Amino acid sequence: MEVENNMDGLSRRRVLLGAAALGGLGALEMRDPSARELKDAPCGAHALPPGSEQPSLAALAARQGRFFGAAVKDPLFTDAPFRRLVAEQCNILVCTYSMKWRFLEPEPGQFDFRRADRYVEFAEEHGMPIRGHTLVWDRAEPAWLGDELHRNGFTVVERHIRGVAGHYAGRLRSWDVVNEAVWPEDGRADRLKNNVFLRTLGPSYIEAAFTVAREADPTALLYYNANPAPYASERNREHFEGVIALLERLLSRGVPVQGLGLQGHLAAASADEFDEATLVWFYERATALGLEIMITELDVSDKWLPTDVALRDLRVAQMYRRFLDVTLAFPAVKGVLSWGLTDRFTGHNRWPRDDGWAVRALPYDHCMRPKLARREIAEAFLAHDPDR
Ligand code: XIL
Repeated sequence: MEVENNMDGLSRRRVLLGAAALGGLGALEMRDPSARELKDAPCGAHALPPGSEQPSLAALAARQGRFFGAAVKDPLFTDAPFRRLVAEQCNILVCTYSMKWRFLEPEPGQFDFRRADRYVEFAEEHGMPIRGHTLVWDRAEPAWLGDELHRNGFTVVERHIRGVAGHYAGRLRSWDVVNEAVWPEDGRADRLKNNVFLRTLGPSYIEAAFTVAREADPTALLYYNANPAPYASERNREHFEGVIALLERLLSRGVPVQGLGLQGHLAAASADEFDEATLVWFYERATALGLEIMITELDVSDKWLPTDVALRDLRVAQMYRRFLDVTLAFPAVKGVLSWGLTDRFTGHNRWPRDDGWAVRALPYDHCMRPKLARREIAEAFLAHDPDR
């Protein structure tokens, strides 16, 4: 939704209905979105008072045996304040793009792990687990993938999974083996997305991917990473149901899947449609299936809210809190990862707000000071602290 959110000409209704990223803009991934000329509040205005970053979100989460982390991209290695913030606030990491297919296997059978290895080394140096994201996703494919799949079928997927999951075997906490494979709008009875994998390989590509991933890395927890949006609509409910139905099918066939990721790309402007009942149903069903759950890509867009920064920060913070209050009530939820941690490095600003102001979707502002959203995330963890 991060991407869909920002596309011109898409109505708000459209975004409410669809949660997935349209993503897939390879060249743009490298660019720092903060390089754009965007209007924003002066550095630190609307920030919480000094000291508000303690206790760290990692410490609050760890007290209840949970993770708090962030998706990180290359500024981790060039921007010292960002690196400090990540080291201080996170106890788990994921790469925003460096472990996607087009980066790891830019040419058929030619792997390049240099970039991704740096993240794994960083995580290991800081004693943080790292999630692998993602082995099979139709929006991160290299240009050659479609032709190769037509020519060589599942062996192309198998080579990728063995190459990548094999390279990192034993070093990653989990893999998003398959990402965003459910899409009711495509009209299939099984609600699977009519993506390039489905068209060339049929629906069995999903279970085959998990089976190969298990062989390639016997210890990583294997996840399906889902992107339904928790806002009331027939289509979103179908999406949540489709995800659970997929996991039921996989588990009933003995497919090795242990985890369910819910991305959590939220929109503050849709708060009135927040569908708590469906979210609770989803967590209950996942729990009953014995899956661990992780919120894998949390952010709250402030698009469609008025320009006023204080108001936007408040509404964004409230959306974080509402979502986390429902979510953290479920013991199967093992952690929460923010999709970027700071407004400085959010992908949202590649498609800015209509008023030309920067999007403030993350718990820290563009100069890495904590915002109201950060306080509400902390409060949500505190509210679920067993020792409280
Ligand atoms: C997004 C990144 O944030 C963007 O920078 C990139 O252009 C596209 O991918 N679902 C996912 C994430 O699983 O990998 C996507 O990340 C957002 C939607």
